[in-house]
Amino acid sequence: MKKREIKKAVIPAAGLGTRFLPATKAIPKEMLPIVDEPTVQYIVDEAVRSGIEEILIITNSNKHCMENHFDRSYELENRLLESGKKEEYNMICGIANMANIYYVRQKEPKGLGHAILCAKSFIGDDPFAVLLGDDIVENHDGKPALKQLIEAYDKVQASIVGVQTVPDDDVSKYGIVEPAKGECLENRKVKLRSMVEKPAKEDAPSNMAVLGRYVLTPEIFDFLETQEPGANGEIQLTDAIKNLMISQSVYAYDFEGTRYDVGDKFGFIKATIEYALEKEELQGKLQQYLKDLVNTF
Ligand code: UTP
Repeated sequence: MKKREIKKAVIPAAGLGTRFLPATKAIPKEMLPIVDEPTVQYIVDEAVRSGIEEILIITNSNKHCMENHFDRSYELENRLLESGKKEEYNMICGIANMANIYYVRQKEPKGLGHAILCAKSFIGDDPFAVLLGDDIVENHDGKPALKQLIEAYDKVQASIVGVQTVPDDDVSKYGIVEPAKGECLENRKVKLRSMVEKPAKEDAPSNMAVLGRYVLTPEIFDFLETQEPGANGEIQLTDAIKNLMISQSVYAYDFEGTRYDVGDKFGFIKATIEYALEKEELQGKLQQYLKDLVNTF
């Protein structure tokens, strides 16, 4: 069988971001900056570092500033050049050249599964990656989370969902995977039997939560097309993956790296502090500030 390479990725970013209102009333949550870069730029960067060449961002009518962000900005570029700001000029041009980025609008926020379905004709018949628009993963000098999944895909040639272990009290916030009978994590990978969206603590089949990274075979679209709305009246990706498991193997991969849910206020604050602590120009000042702050509480 000819190996199919993962060169395309979908970034669903058409959600309403209700957890972050009112900030997200006019600004997409994917454009909220973690220090000085919008969230979606970190995600595009991870995709590119993972070998992705073409990216489709699922947007809505309120999110055109994402398109502007990844486009050329001649007026700004000229002004930066005229004022001798070469470093800033290079940085701005670099963003426009990160990858081939395409956009399609999800006309109604009918759920993550529906957002992915909007990518059907862009993807065609190849396996593809999905990176959620509000999840960033930092793995410092290690491999990007998506690259880890793609390498696992290369071995099994089957759909893979990225997971990490979460505490018992948090399982009800996530899609939780159920390993196949007698299977357990081996080389960070396990074959799955099923998945359940946001189970109660006592019903959760494991503590492995699906966290914003997937490699999917194109057959997923057959299930998304006929999928009835599930939890919250939305077309759920989890339900389609569960159906895919009936005809194909699906694996979970326990990826390395720290994942931040930046669509959640606390996740956003944590990401902001930790990314700022990595920046040379902020590190010393921020460490001191945090120490002083702790002493005042
Ligand atoms: P979330 O559930 O985190 O996004 O979806 P949301 O709906 O914007 O969040 P809240 O709960 O209202 O704050 C996960 C990902 O799927 C995308 C979101 O943009 C996010 O990246 N999504 C979700 C869509 O693209 N379309 C949808 O209809 C729903």
